[in-house]
Amino acid sequence: MATLATERVISVHHWNDTLFSFRTTRDPGLRFENGQFVMIGLQVNDRPLLRAYSIASANYEEELEFFSIKVQNGPLTSRLQHLKPGDEIIVSRKPTGTLVLHDLKPGKNLYLLSTGTGLAPFMSVIKDPETYERFEKVILVHGVRWTNELAYTDIITRELPESEFFGEQVRNQLIYYPTVTREPFRNQGRLTDLIENGKLFEDIGLPPLNPETDRAMLCGSPAMLEDTCKLLDARGMKVSPRIGEPGDYVIERAFVEK
Ligand code: A2P
Repeated sequence: MATLATERVISVHHWNDTLFSFRTTRDPGLRFENGQFVMIGLQVNDRPLLRAYSIASANYEEELEFFSIKVQNGPLTSRLQHLKPGDEIIVSRKPTGTLVLHDLKPGKNLYLLSTGTGLAPFMSVIKDPETYERFEKVILVHGVRWTNELAYTDIITRELPESEFFGEQVRNQLIYYPTVTREPFRNQGRLTDLIENGKLFEDIGLPPLNPETDRAMLCGSPAMLEDTCKLLDARGMKVSPRIGEPGDYVIERAFVEK
Protein backbone atom coordinates (compact mmCIF):
# COMPACT_ATOMS: atom_id res chain seq x y z
CA MET A 1 0.00 0.00 0.00
CA ALA A 2 1.31 3.44 -0.89
CA THR A 3 2.24 5.50 2.16
CA LEU A 4 0.48 8.62 0.86
CA ALA A 5 -3.23 8.99 0.16
CA THR A 6 -4.98 11.78 -1.70
CA GLU A 7 -7.97 13.25 0.12
CA ARG A 8 -10.34 16.09 -0.74
CA VAL A 9 -11.00 19.26 1.19
CA ILE A 10 -14.60 19.42 2.41
CA SER A 11 -14.64 22.78 4.21
CA VAL A 12 -12.32 25.57 5.33
CA HIS A 13 -12.77 27.93 8.27
CA HIS A 14 -10.68 31.08 8.71
CA TRP A 15 -10.57 32.02 12.41
CA ASN A 16 -8.65 35.25 11.80
CA ASP A 17 -5.78 36.56 9.60
CA THR A 18 -3.30 34.04 10.99
CA LEU A 19 -5.25 30.88 11.81
CA PHE A 20 -7.50 28.55 9.86
CA SER A 21 -8.77 25.01 10.00
CA PHE A 22 -10.08 22.63 7.38
CA ARG A 23 -11.82 19.30 7.08
CA THR A 24 -11.01 16.61 4.54
CA THR A 25 -12.28 13.22 3.46
CA ARG A 26 -10.79 10.30 5.37
CA ASP A 27 -9.67 7.01 3.92
CA PRO A 28 -11.72 4.47 5.91
CA GLY A 29 -8.50 2.46 6.27
CA LEU A 30 -6.77 5.28 8.17
CA ARG A 31 -6.75 4.33 11.84
CA PHE A 32 -5.34 6.64 14.49
CA GLU A 33 -5.39 7.33 18.19
CA ASN A 34 -6.78 10.61 19.47
CA GLY A 35 -3.87 13.02 19.97
CA GLN A 36 -1.73 11.65 17.12
CA PHE A 37 -0.45 13.50 14.06
CA VAL A 38 0.01 12.69 10.38
CA MET A 39 2.07 14.22 7.60
CA ILE A 40 -0.07 16.26 5.24
CA GLY A 41 0.68 18.52 2.30
CA LEU A 42 0.47 19.40 -1.34
CA GLN A 43 2.21 18.55 -4.59
CA VAL A 44 4.69 21.37 -5.25
CA ASN A 45 6.74 21.19 -8.45
CA ASP A 46 5.60 17.58 -8.87
CA ARG A 47 6.85 16.55 -5.46
CA PRO A 48 4.95 16.14 -2.19
CA LEU A 49 5.69 18.95 0.29
CA LEU A 50 4.62 17.55 3.66
CA ARG A 51 4.54 18.74 7.28
CA ALA A 52 3.36 17.15 10.52
CA TYR A 53 -0.15 18.14 11.59
CA SER A 54 -2.05 16.98 14.63
CA ILE A 55 -5.44 15.55 13.83
CA ALA A 56 -8.03 17.78 15.50
CA SER A 57 -10.98 15.47 14.76
CA ALA A 58 -11.64 12.38 16.86
CA ASN A 59 -10.83 8.92 15.57
CA TYR A 60 -14.51 7.97 15.27
CA GLU A 61 -15.35 10.91 12.96
CA GLU A 62 -15.80 10.36 9.26
CA GLU A 63 -13.71 13.37 8.27
CA LEU A 64 -10.26 14.59 9.26
CA GLU A 65 -9.74 18.07 10.68
CA PHE A 66 -6.53 20.12 10.86
CA PHE A 67 -5.75 23.46 12.52
CA SER A 68 -3.01 25.61 11.03
CA ILE A 69 -1.30 28.94 11.17
CA LYS A 70 -0.81 30.97 7.98
CA VAL A 71 2.79 31.95 7.39
CA GLN A 72 2.93 34.38 4.47
CA ASN A 73 6.16 32.97 3.07
CA GLY A 74 5.95 29.54 4.68
CA PRO A 75 6.66 26.88 2.05
CA LEU A 76 3.49 24.93 2.86
CA THR A 77 1.11 27.22 4.76
CA SER A 78 1.44 30.05 2.23
CA ARG A 79 -0.23 27.58 -0.15
CA LEU A 80 -2.48 25.68 2.28
CA GLN A 81 -4.23 28.85 3.42
CA HIS A 82 -5.78 29.14 -0.06
CA LEU A 83 -7.38 25.68 0.06
CA LYS A 84 -10.97 25.53 -1.16
CA PRO A 85 -13.57 22.79 -0.88
CA GLY A 86 -12.90 20.18 -3.55
CA ASP A 87 -9.12 20.69 -3.63
CA GLU A 88 -6.84 17.69 -3.24
CA ILE A 89 -4.57 17.23 -0.26
CA ILE A 90 -2.01 14.55 0.55
CA VAL A 91 -2.38 12.70 3.85
CA SER A 92 0.14 10.09 4.98
CA ARG A 93 -1.16 6.73 6.12
CA LYS A 94 1.08 6.51 9.17
CA PRO A 95 -0.25 8.44 12.17
CA THR A 96 2.06 8.63 15.15
CA GLY A 97 2.78 10.79 18.19
CA THR A 98 3.24 10.94 21.91
CA LEU A 99 0.06 12.71 23.06
CA VAL A 100 -1.92 9.53 23.67
CA LEU A 101 -3.86 8.50 26.75
CA HIS A 102 -2.20 5.14 27.11
CA ASP A 103 1.19 6.76 27.68
CA LEU A 104 -0.10 8.37 30.88
CA LYS A 105 -0.18 6.59 34.20
CA PRO A 106 -3.57 6.44 35.90
CA GLY A 107 -4.50 9.65 37.68
CA LYS A 108 -7.31 11.88 38.83
CA ASN A 109 -6.89 15.15 36.91
CA LEU A 110 -5.66 15.48 33.34
CA TYR A 111 -4.13 18.83 32.37
CA LEU A 112 -4.05 19.54 28.63
CA LEU A 113 -1.64 22.47 28.36
CA SER A 114 -1.45 24.18 24.98
CA THR A 115 -0.41 27.40 23.32
CA GLY A 116 -1.32 28.53 19.79
CA THR A 117 -2.01 25.68 17.36
CA GLY A 118 -0.91 23.29 20.11
CA LEU A 119 -4.63 23.13 20.87
CA ALA A 120 -5.22 20.85 17.86
CA PRO A 121 -4.38 17.42 19.34
CA PHE A 122 -6.42 18.24 22.44
CA MET A 123 -9.55 18.88 20.37
CA SER A 124 -9.30 15.21 19.52
CA VAL A 125 -8.49 14.13 23.09
CA ILE A 126 -11.47 16.02 24.60
CA LYS A 127 -13.82 14.27 22.16
CA ASP A 128 -12.63 10.85 23.31
CA PRO A 129 -15.01 9.23 25.82
CA GLU A 130 -12.08 7.26 27.23
CA THR A 131 -10.54 10.54 28.44
CA TYR A 132 -13.49 10.98 30.80
CA GLU A 133 -13.43 7.36 31.89
CA ARG A 134 -9.78 7.56 32.87
CA PHE A 135 -9.84 10.97 34.59
CA GLU A 136 -12.26 12.71 36.95
CA LYS A 137 -11.43 16.20 35.70
CA VAL A 138 -9.97 17.26 32.36
CA ILE A 139 -8.53 20.78 32.32
CA LEU A 140 -7.94 22.27 28.88
CA VAL A 141 -5.66 25.32 29.06
CA HIS A 142 -5.19 27.30 25.84
CA GLY A 143 -2.72 30.19 25.91
CA VAL A 144 -2.70 32.74 23.11
CA ARG A 145 -1.47 36.28 22.52
CA TRP A 146 -4.77 37.80 21.36
CA THR A 147 -8.41 36.91 22.06
CA ASN A 148 -9.11 36.40 18.36
CA GLU A 149 -6.71 33.44 18.48
CA LEU A 150 -9.00 31.55 20.84
CA ALA A 151 -10.18 29.19 18.13
CA TYR A 152 -12.71 26.44 18.86
CA THR A 153 -14.18 28.24 21.90
CA ASP A 154 -17.72 27.78 20.68
CA ILE A 155 -17.23 24.11 19.98
CA ILE A 156 -15.69 23.54 23.39
CA THR A 157 -18.22 25.54 25.38
CA ARG A 158 -21.43 25.00 23.37
CA GLU A 159 -21.27 22.05 21.00
CA LEU A 160 -19.41 19.42 23.00
CA PRO A 161 -21.47 19.86 26.18
CA GLU A 162 -24.55 19.15 24.05
CA SER A 163 -23.16 16.05 22.38
CA GLU A 164 -25.55 13.10 22.69
CA PHE A 165 -22.58 10.80 22.85
CA PHE A 166 -20.53 12.29 25.72
CA GLY A 167 -22.09 15.69 26.52
CA GLU A 168 -22.80 14.76 30.11
CA GLN A 169 -19.16 13.87 30.77
CA VAL A 170 -18.05 17.13 29.14
CA ARG A 171 -20.46 19.13 31.29
CA ASN A 172 -19.34 17.45 34.50
CA GLN A 173 -15.67 16.88 33.88
CA LEU A 174 -14.21 19.29 31.32
CA ILE A 175 -12.82 22.62 32.55
CA TYR A 176 -11.86 25.02 29.74
CA TYR A 177 -9.33 27.70 30.69
CA PRO A 178 -8.38 30.06 27.86
CA THR A 179 -5.75 32.64 28.73
CA VAL A 180 -4.53 35.68 26.80
CA THR A 181 -1.20 37.47 27.18
CA ARG A 182 -1.32 40.67 25.12
CA GLU A 183 -4.71 42.24 25.76
CA PRO A 184 -7.27 42.27 28.56
CA PHE A 185 -9.30 39.09 29.04
CA ARG A 186 -10.93 37.29 31.95
CA ASN A 187 -7.84 35.07 32.30
CA GLN A 188 -4.52 36.72 31.61
CA GLY A 189 -0.91 35.62 31.54
CA ARG A 190 1.28 32.78 30.37
CA LEU A 191 0.17 29.37 31.55
CA THR A 192 3.61 28.83 33.08
CA ASP A 193 3.13 31.90 35.28
CA LEU A 194 -0.40 30.86 36.18
CA ILE A 195 0.89 27.46 37.32
CA GLU A 196 3.79 28.98 39.18
CA ASN A 197 1.80 31.62 41.04
CA GLY A 198 -1.13 29.29 41.68
CA LYS A 199 -3.72 31.48 39.94
CA LEU A 200 -4.77 28.68 37.59
CA PHE A 201 -5.63 26.38 40.50
CA GLU A 202 -7.42 29.10 42.44
CA ASP A 203 -9.52 29.91 39.39
CA ILE A 204 -10.52 26.33 38.62
CA GLY A 205 -10.90 25.24 42.24
CA LEU A 206 -8.39 22.39 42.19
CA PRO A 207 -5.27 21.89 44.32
CA PRO A 208 -1.83 22.76 42.89
CA LEU A 209 -0.09 20.11 40.75
CA ASN A 210 0.60 16.88 42.58
CA PRO A 211 2.46 13.95 40.99
CA GLU A 212 0.25 11.48 42.88
CA THR A 213 -2.97 12.63 41.27
CA ASP A 214 -2.21 14.82 38.25
CA ARG A 215 -1.22 13.95 34.71
CA ALA A 216 -0.51 16.30 31.81
CA MET A 217 -0.15 16.55 28.07
CA LEU A 218 1.80 19.51 26.64
CA CYS A 219 1.72 20.94 23.15
CA GLY A 220 3.18 24.31 22.20
CA SER A 221 6.30 26.10 21.00
CA PRO A 222 9.75 24.77 21.92
CA ALA A 223 10.12 27.58 24.50
CA MET A 224 6.73 26.84 26.07
CA LEU A 225 7.56 23.14 26.27
CA GLU A 226 10.93 23.78 27.84
CA ASP A 227 9.55 26.10 30.50
CA THR A 228 6.52 23.93 31.25
CA CYS A 229 8.61 20.76 31.52
CA LYS A 230 10.86 22.50 34.04
CA LEU A 231 7.83 23.42 36.14
CA LEU A 232 6.39 19.91 36.04
CA ASP A 233 9.75 18.31 36.75
CA ALA A 234 10.24 20.60 39.73
CA ARG A 235 6.90 19.35 41.07
CA GLY A 236 8.06 15.74 40.86
CA MET A 237 6.25 14.76 37.68
CA LYS A 238 8.06 12.40 35.29
CA VAL A 239 7.84 12.67 31.52
CA SER A 240 7.08 9.53 29.49
CA PRO A 241 10.51 8.63 28.10
CA ARG A 242 9.21 7.19 24.84
CA ILE A 243 6.07 6.02 23.05
CA GLY A 244 4.72 2.97 24.85
CA GLU A 245 6.28 3.83 28.22
CA PRO A 246 3.81 5.65 30.42
CA GLY A 247 4.76 8.68 32.50
CA ASP A 248 3.07 11.42 34.49
CA TYR A 249 3.13 13.63 31.41
CA VAL A 250 3.74 13.57 27.64
CA ILE A 251 4.91 16.34 25.31
CA GLU A 252 4.80 17.25 21.65
CA ARG A 253 5.90 20.31 19.74
CA ALA A 254 3.19 22.26 18.02
CA PHE A 255 4.58 22.14 14.52
CA VAL A 256 4.90 25.79 13.76
CA GLU A 257 7.65 26.43 11.23
CA LYS A 258 5.76 25.70 8.08
P1 A2P B 1 3.59 35.99 25.23
O1 A2P B 1 2.58 36.85 24.57
O2 A2P B 1 3.95 36.46 26.61
O3 A2P B 1 4.81 35.71 24.37
P2 A2P B 1 3.42 32.14 20.37
O4 A2P B 1 2.43 32.58 19.34
O5 A2P B 1 4.66 32.96 20.48
O6 A2P B 1 3.69 30.65 20.34
O7 A2P B 1 2.68 32.38 21.74
C1 A2P B 1 1.44 31.80 22.07
C2 A2P B 1 1.19 32.04 23.53
O8 A2P B 1 2.19 31.32 24.28
C3 A2P B 1 1.34 33.49 23.92
O9 A2P B 1 0.33 33.79 24.87
C4 A2P B 1 2.72 33.56 24.52
O10 A2P B 1 2.86 34.56 25.51
C5 A2P B 1 2.82 32.22 25.18
N1 A2P B 1 4.21 31.79 25.37
C6 A2P B 1 5.29 32.09 24.60
N2 A2P B 1 6.40 31.55 25.13
C7 A2P B 1 6.01 30.89 26.24
C8 A2P B 1 6.72 30.15 27.24
N3 A2P B 1 8.04 29.98 27.17
N4 A2P B 1 6.00 29.61 28.24
C9 A2P B 1 4.66 29.82 28.33
N5 A2P B 1 3.95 30.52 27.43
C10 A2P B 1 4.62 31.06 26.41
